[in-house]
Amino acid sequence: MHASSISFRLAVLFVIAGMAMGIGMAMTQNHAIMPAHAHLNLLGWVSLFLFGIYYERRPALDTSRLAMIQVVLWSIGTVVLTLAVAAIHLGYTAADPIAALASLLVLAGMILFAYFVFRPARDLAPGRAAHLTPAE
Ligand code: HEM
Repeated sequence: MHASSISFRLAVLFVIAGMAMGIGMAMTQNHAIMPAHAHLNLLGWVSLFLFGIYYERRPALDTSRLAMIQVVLWSIGTVVLTLAVAAIHLGYTAADPIAALASLLVLAGMILFAYFVFRPARDLAPGRAAHLTPAE
């Protein structure tokens, strides 16, 4: 499985959960967990989908174990951060250290992604011209 396809699949699952959370907040007129909803959608949907697009455009990176680690790290961090932020906003302040730990996980995931972005462009597919259709 490629890092991009895992990213896309997890991203759509996260946004379905995030939208359900939003509908739940709207229906109950209780927006207490709004920060958790926002983090789930922006980390789990927007960012993860963007990672997927980046990986898909770099086939060598897309099949690497390090890219898969980045996606898994990010996804675990997103789930734990969302739950901990929701718990904090529902009054369970004991979840504070868990949120702190999860925030470090997503930071580590972003630093790893930054490493992919800044290292030399050797991860670009060598034969990108293969994607072009020759003129007849
Ligand atoms: C079914 C879809 C959705 C519903 C019903 C929904 C509902 C809500 C509700 C009720 C709030 C609280 C507003 C407030 O208290 O002021 C909120 C906030 C927010 N939502 Fe959603 N949402 C949905 C999808 C999304 C998506 C897809 C994203 C991001 C890609 C998103 C990002 C945000 C953000 C960033 C906030 C915080 C806004 C602020 O700080 O004022 N939401 N949403």
